[in-house]
Amino acid sequence: MKNIIQLLSRIAFYPLPLRVHFFKTLLKINKWLPYSTRLEFDALVRPNYGFCIYNAAQLAKSLGLKRISIIEFGVAGGNGLVNLEQHAEEISKALDIEFEIYGFDMGSGLPNPMGFRDMPYMWAEGFYKMDLNLLKSRLKFSKLIIGNVKKTCTTFFEDYTPAPIGCAMFDLDYYSSTIDSFNIFNADETNYLPRIYCYFDDIAGSALRAMNNHVGVLRAIEEFNETNSSKKIARIEGLSTSRKIKSTWNNHIYVVHDFEHAEYETFIGNSHQSLDLI
Ligand SMILES: C[S@@+](CC[C@H](N)C(=O)[O-])C[C@H]1O[C@@H](n2cnc3c(N)ncnc32)[C@H](O)[C@@H]1O
Repeated sequence: MKNIIQLLSRIAFYPLPLRVHFFKTLLKINKWLPYSTRLEFDALVRPNYGFCIYNAAQLAKSLGLKRISIIEFGVAGGNGLVNLEQHAEEISKALDIEFEIYGFDMGSGLPNPMGFRDMPYMWAEGFYKMDLNLLKSRLKFSKLIIGNVKKTCTTFFEDYTPAPIGCAMFDLDYYSSTIDSFNIFNADETNYLPRIYCYFDDIAGSALRAMNNHVGVLRAIEEFNETNSSKKIARIEGLSTSRKIKSTWNNHIYVVHDFEHAEYETFIGNSHQSLDLI
């Protein structure tokens, strides 16, 4: 009965007209269509992940790079990491760019919350434990970095000499873990694109979660911006207005700007622009 009510309410109140839903599904199953077309219409699993990788790849290409790194902070069972590989494989073919993927996780699930900013009323120690062997058997080329990000982020570049980071998916739930993960942005600028495309999962939610700027991931972003004068994490304002299909994930996309990066001012737009008098 519950399922029938859910189905009926989806049909009645789904924010997109059913015909849009139908055509989206049609595009999704026709994998021979260009990746860019399917991305344009959100006809992909986790288009938010695809969006970040695709834009990072385009930026990298404009800057003459051949290889970049993708990061997922918070892997849990690994569905996100497996999905990242699928996007990366398609985008690699479409844009002729290579990817390295790194997934950071405790392995043992969420650590102990470190105070009210970690919102212990929503999350608790041990949630989202990983089955390491199962995940390893499903991954094609991603590398798992097991341990607390407080430590693993500080030794990452030394341990892995990764290609420049182009995009990062943040899904660590806690304020304390997210702020620790931001240490990854403290290395030499050659380790990053001048603008890094990011997806932040835990910045919106139900009334019970009551997300806000004073706790959780939004607080971590605020603090990063308060303590860094030449690097800022900023939402892409009005992103949904440029999307064919507007979706809630549009509000979860941010970019880490490094204003002092040697390539920050490099022109990547279309040359020969003019607005002739009509
Ligand atoms: C919600 S889950 C991630 C879900 C995953 N991104 C997905 O899409 O399926 C959050 C994960 O963050 C990890 N995590 C939280 N704090 C961490 C920390 N300080 N260091 C490493 N991993 C952490 C937990 O182990 C947990 O698996």
